Amino acid sequence: MCGRSLVVVKIDEQIGLIDPNIFGHFIEHLGRCIYPGIWVGKSSKIPNEDGLRRDVVQALKSINAPIIRWPGGCFADAYHWEDGIGPVEQRPRGINIWWGGSESNEFGTDEFIHLCRLTGAEPYICVNVGSGSPREALAWLEYCNYSGNSKYANLRSLYGHPEPYRVKYWGVGNENWGCGGSFDPVYYAWEYRRFATFLKQADSSVKLIACGHTTRDWNLRFMETLKDFIHLVDYLSIHYYFGNPQRYGDDVNFTDEQYLNLLFDVQILEYHIKQAISIVEFFSEGRKDIGIAVDEWGVWHPQATVESGLYQQNTLRDAILSAAVLNLFINYSRKVRMANLAQAVNVLQSICLTRGERTVLTPTYYVFKMYQPHMGNWALKVEAESPIIREPSEKDFAGSARQRRSIKPLKALDASASISQDGKNLVITLVNQSLDEDLDVEIVLDGKGEAYDGNLTVLNAEDVRAHNDFDFPENVKTKEEPLTVKGKTFGFKAQRHSINKLNLKITK
Ligand code: AHR
Repeated sequence: MCGRSLVVVKIDEQIGLIDPNIFGHFIEHLGRCIYPGIWVGKSSKIPNEDGLRRDVVQALKSINAPIIRWPGGCFADAYHWEDGIGPVEQRPRGINIWWGGSESNEFGTDEFIHLCRLTGAEPYICVNVGSGSPREALAWLEYCNYSGNSKYANLRSLYGHPEPYRVKYWGVGNENWGCGGSFDPVYYAWEYRRFATFLKQADSSVKLIACGHTTRDWNLRFMETLKDFIHLVDYLSIHYYFGNPQRYGDDVNFTDEQYLNLLFDVQILEYHIKQAISIVEFFSEGRKDIGIAVDEWGVWHPQATVESGLYQQNTLRDAILSAAVLNLFINYSRKVRMANLAQAVNVLQSICLTRGERTVLTPTYYVFKMYQPHMGNWALKVEAESPIIREPSEKDFAGSARQRRSIKPLKALDASASISQDGKNLVITLVNQSLDEDLDVEIVLDGKGEAYDGNLTVLNAEDVRAHNDFDFPENVKTKEEPLTVKGKTFGFKAQRHSINKLNLKITK
């Protein structure tokens, strides 16, 4: 079957600049993410750069990973950073109270910064609010950023790093409504004020990320309590995991209905983003432009348990989901300024899976590679018409009445588009979410400029359950396909369950 669809790209209607940080990543001391997904140690047989595994560094570099969040997650609010600096053999061992086992502290601040420097990513450090103190957070900031003569700056020099690290992004706690200390929003707001006052005073160039939530109550009461201290907040974060075994099935085994349920539910994340935006806008009243950071997101399949170290497989379905979510972030780029996929290696929706010396790139990796050209572009308004593939049903959005009222049917085609700041390159990313229909897509460029050249990259496989593993590492990977474009209107075929990136040269 072949359906018809129409995509109108409004070249002159900009939504906002696409912050490269919406394509960010997250690593935590959890399962096999850091050890041995990132850190294998200098004496390992696994090829490494000062202890950091080369294949994973290369993977992060090749997708231009813009930002990496560390050390957690839940781990962050029990982490004491001073245990992770200095000669490795002298670092004390700790216990990982959230994820089990003990912590060698071999991978600490200097190793994290080295990872960021090798990959080209900005470091984003989450400080310990739950079991830590402003004093401990300030000392960490001093260690990383201070250039003068002080205890912690001198320690950094002593350990071989005379130049300050200039870490710009600092999270003030993680999920402080839960594993970060079980605070209530008012109490957290007071703690936030305390930590943020000192951090901003010590280094006014830092950007602080406050812990938000997907409940309206948390965000409202946090912002209400903080309303006279809005200048201390740069981002409000939310976390969203697509996790519901009944509704979505397993990582690799799922029904067609469960496939559609997952994509249908991208609108739940959209709902939470809209809600967070309206709350920050209401309380900041034009006094401060606070961004939204979705600083943990991804699919959480039932295979990812604490016992399995949150390890799960990653199919073409996960890649399609991530493309739809990245389209969402692009379409909300006016306010969504950061997002971090959870987590980069061997945990949840990874871009790499490792076994011994080997690394497999997941289908989700290819999506991040495809979406790179959007970074720093202007997001454009897009209108897309295509067949409905899933109508809302009784069971949808068990959440609030407000949530239920916002439900929309799921259309086959999901789209985003952007234009480079010099106006010469247009990037269109289209996901055909249908399981059984190829789509004849007519693309209309509405506004100044027409296309005179272009290329097409496609990510697809025979089956949405296809994945890459150590026996078949290249089952799912991108292909370059021919594309003929000329003028303001042209067509192309979007294969069923495919992700398509059109890179177009346009006249100004
Ligand atoms: O990413 C796994 C965990 O999920 C993180 O540690 C926590 O912040 C979230 O609940």
